[in-house]
Amino acid sequence: MTVYNKAEEAANFLKAKLKEGNFENGTVAVTLGSGLGKFGNSLTRLITVKYEEIPHFPKSTVEGHAGALILAKDEETGKNFWVMQGRVHYYEGYSMEQVTFPIRIFFLLGVKKFLVTNAAGGINRNFDAGDLMLIRDHINMFGNNPLIGPNDKRFGPRFSDMTEAYDKKLSKIVEEEAVSLKINIKEGVYFGWSGPTFETPSEVRLVAALGGDAVGMSTVPEVIVARHCGIDVAGISFISNKAAGISAEKLSHEEVQENSKLVEEKFGALVKASVTRFLKI
Ligand code: HPA
Repeated sequence: MTVYNKAEEAANFLKAKLKEGNFENGTVAVTLGSGLGKFGNSLTRLITVKYEEIPHFPKSTVEGHAGALILAKDEETGKNFWVMQGRVHYYEGYSMEQVTFPIRIFFLLGVKKFLVTNAAGGINRNFDAGDLMLIRDHINMFGNNPLIGPNDKRFGPRFSDMTEAYDKKLSKIVEEEAVSLKINIKEGVYFGWSGPTFETPSEVRLVAALGGDAVGMSTVPEVIVARHCGIDVAGISFISNKAAGISAEKLSHEEVQENSKLVEEKFGALVKASVTRFLKI
């Protein structure tokens, strides 16, 4: 079975849910990473489907990454949007195809704009734990690419243009909303590689030398597939810690989760405001 057929089955399953509730489809999708648990729980939910209920959908195994796909209502515009509460990662042992499968479904559901979020280690010395960073661009160091293999033209072209992987117009909206909310948002390049180890201090120096401002273990495959499908993307990283060697402290997933509680309010407010604006254009 091709990825397209699998994604079609999953999309049809969700379209049936839309029909059942007589809900309007959403053209904006958001993936919630660490730091957005509260936002996820505050949503006006129309549909909540656990990942394991969706045909062919990969199941999340990481603590703190509950897996549910939600159709939520934006109270201000009255429009609906899709939310992925939790994602699966390449380091869990999933293939690139599985990691990016939700994006294929979004495409078949008619999603046009995608807001991706994540937690990342701060490489740029001007970044502190608790900062938010608008993703201006990324560097793919996963040692893999989700588009390797036969190309299905129904999704997109063989060679995807990545000149504007992060859409300028959508990114500007996120920045404007941060200003309105008095959130001091940084901006920079997200350097993505597989994990699950945190970096050694030497690797952190490598990332800095190569132009990364923040480093993480997700997002890049999803954004590549979104662009392949012609979906416009904006991204926000929550800097959960200074990367290894930049501060003297050791890193842990617990620290990432604890620090995520500190940003929940501002991060949630920014995502909410950005989504509302995306729904208006
Ligand atoms: N490195 C990689 N991924 C991360 C980090 C980090 O320091 N913090 C949160 N995700």
